[in-house]
Amino acid sequence: MTDQSLGSDLAYLDYNATAPMRPEAEQAVLAAMRTVGNASSTHRSGRDAAQRVDTARRQVAELLNCTSGEIVFTSGATEANNLALRAAFSAGGALVTSTVEHPAVLETAKNLTSETPGTLRLVPVNEDGLVDLDALHDALAGGGVAVVSLMAANNETGVLTALAPIAEAAHAAGALVHTDATQMVGRLPIDLAETDVDLLSLSAHKFGGPQGVGALFVRRGVSLPYRPLIFGGGQERGWRAGTLNVAGIAGAGAAAEAALHGMAHEGVQVARLRDSLESALVEQVTDCRINGAPGLRLPGVTSITFRGAPADAVLAAMPDVAASEGSACASGAPSPSHVLLGMGRSRDEADSTVRFSLGYASTDRDVIQAVSSTVRAVRQVRAAMSTTV
Ligand SMILES: Cc1ncc(COP(=O)(O)O)c(C=O)c1O
Repeated sequence: MTDQSLGSDLAYLDYNATAPMRPEAEQAVLAAMRTVGNASSTHRSGRDAAQRVDTARRQVAELLNCTSGEIVFTSGATEANNLALRAAFSAGGALVTSTVEHPAVLETAKNLTSETPGTLRLVPVNEDGLVDLDALHDALAGGGVAVVSLMAANNETGVLTALAPIAEAAHAAGALVHTDATQMVGRLPIDLAETDVDLLSLSAHKFGGPQGVGALFVRRGVSLPYRPLIFGGGQERGWRAGTLNVAGIAGAGAAAEAALHGMAHEGVQVARLRDSLESALVEQVTDCRINGAPGLRLPGVTSITFRGAPADAVLAAMPDVAASEGSACASGAPSPSHVLLGMGRSRDEADSTVRFSLGYASTDRDVIQAVSSTVRAVRQVRAAMSTTV
């Protein structure tokens, strides 16, 4: 899809940073904004707002195949991750997570464990980005693990985690299981009746809802002392105080419903476009490498290292393509991608990696434009680099 808000012909291939709002979500947001009502009020306006929230809670629950009562609305996945880990860690014990998690998990884990040395156990990944299962079992065998938190799909490479066997091993060791499923929700099916995780985080803006809304799934029956980050009126069953963001939540619900309905055909279409982007780039650009386990990635993501071509220069040389250097959430930070370093890439390789992420509204035209601009940009940057050395 081209980004009309910029009035340009920008090929938008940065869905992992944020996806364009689905029309259904836009309508739900506008409809909710045009009415007045606090979802906690008992008069008719309040009941109307509460009704919109209830509908959204059901729509999000349907996307995950869980019940409405297991959904806590938050400001996004960052907050959901913080809430999940704070609650799960508060019972005492160790926190196990991987080296390639999003900062919303890694930084939270570091912060929570900073005063109790030895309570953070970081599990590495292999060169394909897959969690080292032997290291995970070792971390569990050490005993006393409060929670295992592993992301369902990596935001930089799209690499997927097989959650079911991990959850089984973690539960056998007496630990709770949390997954940051921000990049997977709305893109691949998630069935929480089948996948035995206790806590799951999601963010609406990754699947076509508005920014600033997310949710934490808390499995019914899991004994968990909730530890709110925000105290006040006790909304969201005490997990998160404050007047509900009715319009945002309504948009999240509508996006969830649209994503669920579209998932099967969108998945096929997005995978076809991603595969054609990848094969064209690999064919036309020398010395490049795709990062992440083949066949075990999100359908819309490709992380490609163009050796000898720093990604910041490549992206600057193709202003008609919106793609990303490492993770957008970390952009502006001078450090190289911890995900690629964790997969054993050198600093130079990490610095020369571009992430393209496609989604429900991506088109053949986007791919054609991205291929021709990327090929040109990489050649141009490599030529400039060779004249400066
Ligand atoms: C895997 C993952 N977790 C968490 C987040 C943070 O989500 P939010 O923007 O909703 O706080 C992101 C955003 O990029 C992400 O990719």
